[in-house]
Amino acid sequence: MTKSVILTGLRANNDLTLGNYFGGMLPMIDMAKTRSEEFQINMFIPDLHSFTTPIDHSQLFEQVLQNAKLFVAAGLPINNDDINLYRQSFIPAHSELTWILDNFTGFGQMERMTQFKDKSAGASEVSVGLFNYPVLMAADILLYGAKYVPVGDDQTQHLEFTRDIAERVNTRFGALFVIPEPVKKQHEFFGKDQGLRIMDLVDPTKKMSKSDEFGKGVIFLNDEPDVAAKKIMSATTDDKANVTFDRVNQPGISNLLEIASLIRGKSIDETAKQFEGESRYGEFKKIVAEEVRVFLSEFQMRLASVDESEVLNKLESSEVRMNEQANATLLNVQQAVGLRKKA
Ligand code: TRP
Repeated sequence: MTKSVILTGLRANNDLTLGNYFGGMLPMIDMAKTRSEEFQINMFIPDLHSFTTPIDHSQLFEQVLQNAKLFVAAGLPINNDDINLYRQSFIPAHSELTWILDNFTGFGQMERMTQFKDKSAGASEVSVGLFNYPVLMAADILLYGAKYVPVGDDQTQHLEFTRDIAERVNTRFGALFVIPEPVKKQHEFFGKDQGLRIMDLVDPTKKMSKSDEFGKGVIFLNDEPDVAAKKIMSATTDDKANVTFDRVNQPGISNLLEIASLIRGKSIDETAKQFEGESRYGEFKKIVAEEVRVFLSEFQMRLASVDESEVLNKLESSEVRMNEQANATLLNVQQAVGLRKKA
């Protein structure tokens, strides 16, 4: 029996935030570690998808490699053969299957994709690539017969689309694809609400996001540790003079408690307890700022010591295996649609 597949795409990005780290990377890595006995884990960097937002092409290749290193620095094991780490464009079947699926996909359905509508609204030029993005994502998933795909809210429609196209093709040509589980089942499987939300330091009512205009409310993984500590010191708080976890009435203080808890790997309750009765926000911030400073300098040191050739070896060996699996699926499809002789 072959194992069911859990698959996730990790967008190449050279300015990941503390929010991305604790909200995206770490849960993914934990999932990979804990589920790899039972499942085949596919973690890949969708480098072809990178084209759909403005990027510096001269940096892309290195950036993808840097992202793979970030995952290793964050604890992704590379000596585990059940965890595959690969680059999308190194498996040409992704592009080929996309083209085939394109021809069984309705223009109308694609036009209704919320993310496409949002990203194209008001843009002076909209590429066919942006339009076609969900079909490539469907190919990413279907080539490996992935059953479980953890997706954020912005990607659930694309997952539904993947199920849809897979069912349509299966109905017409026979059981070519494994249908991924519906979104509700995905949430049950992965545990949807981990309550993990790092907020902006300047405006703690919105999520910490790299698109923040000035970067003052955002801690980047590559921030100078001292600069990051200063951002914590100037984080927005309130006038209640009481360090308590209360997202509604004290969002700024709660956010700092959250950050400290995540760095410590402790529960919020435990962290909050330490500061019970503390009325001097300056003192509280100093402690959190120092923990952030130490966390970042240690992370950056780990990143600098990641062995690039080991990461490349991991990518390359995964890519060999992934090409085999993807090509097998592609061949079935090619035979079904008449491009190859039936076996
Ligand atoms: N679209 C995803 C994102 O923006 C990245 C992605 C590409 C992906 N292909 C995928 C995620 C396949 C899961 C499965 O985050």
